[in-house]
Amino acid sequence: MKILVTGREGMLGSALMRRLSVGVEGSPAFAVAGIDLPDGDLSRAEVAAALVARHAPDWIVHCAAWTDVDGAESRFDDAMAANGQATANLAVAASTCGCGLTYISTDYVFDGRGRGGDPAAGYDEDDPLAPLNRYGLTKAAGEAHVTALDTPWQVVRTSWLFGDGRVNFPKTIRRLLGERETLQVVDDQRGCPTYADDLADVLARLVSGRHRGIFHATNRGDCTWYDLAREVAAACGTDPGRIRACTSAEYPRPAARPACSILRSRRLEDAGCPPRPAWQDAVRRYVARLEAGQVAHP
Ligand SMILES: NC(=O)c1ccc[n+]([C@@H]2O[C@H](COP(=O)([O-])OP(=O)(O)OC[C@H]3O[C@@H](n4cnc5c(N)ncnc54)[C@H](OP(=O)(O)O)[C@@H]3O)[C@@H](O)[C@H]2O)c1
Repeated sequence: MKILVTGREGMLGSALMRRLSVGVEGSPAFAVAGIDLPDGDLSRAEVAAALVARHAPDWIVHCAAWTDVDGAESRFDDAMAANGQATANLAVAASTCGCGLTYISTDYVFDGRGRGGDPAAGYDEDDPLAPLNRYGLTKAAGEAHVTALDTPWQVVRTSWLFGDGRVNFPKTIRRLLGERETLQVVDDQRGCPTYADDLADVLARLVSGRHRGIFHATNRGDCTWYDLAREVAAACGTDPGRIRACTSAEYPRPAARPACSILRSRRLEDAGCPPRPAWQDAVRRYVARLEAGQVAHP
């Protein structure tokens, strides 16, 4: 099975390239190719078509995206080009070459209040989309292009991603703990932290099984950013009491943030994916790699 990964240099794309290189048990090894912005801007239709034609994949996993949530508020057209138009172009290219397409999406396509207004309920795969900020709008636009495809497709929504990338929350908390005595972290937003390496494992299984539909894929369990920061502190061997709770109102950002980002996964087990590790386990593994200098962007 020949797989083309977009966003090869990104946090998830790079984890997926590593994961696909070792295959999935019971399936033949993958042939993997990766592309990123230096190879061409996917928001240009002719570029996307030429890249897909050149690689002639059996399946595309589309990890490339505009991921600057606050920047999408002021540069909406650029964000929409990267998340909406680029995905539309890949969908056309996938349909033309008859290959499958996996699109990585986000909790931000929901309204952030939780199913039926209950924050503890989270969201199921089939809950209605109602993005609460402009980044969410662009990602929902990408979903619409994929779910209209006549070739096999997957939409895999994830949240609170961390891993080998330039910027992510656990890495920032670890750095700030080295610079300040105490940190204030918001305690009124709840979600599911997700280690890119664990998500890459899910993606490898979903793609090798050629499963179809919408999936929610995160590490197991949910927490607030405050809880996550305390876990990072503990994993760094420092006192979690140095993390202080604050409200979102005390930490205003350009883009609205969801109070509830919990993605309930109802379908991964049916698709043969084993239960994901708990988020605390994922944080410990990632911080251990950070401390050992084993990550691409320390
Ligand atoms: N990060 C999170 O917390 C999070 C949460 C939920 C869902 N997701 C989704 O997960 C996926 C992976 O996210 P990530 O954090 O791994 O992303 P990332 O690290 O920002 O990587 C995205 C890659 O896509 C490239 N790219 C951007 N626009 C492009 C275009 N028009 N054409 C070709 N390449 C382009 C970027 O290049 P440059 O860096 O040069 O711009 C970058 O290398 C995305 O779909 C994202 O929406 C992320």
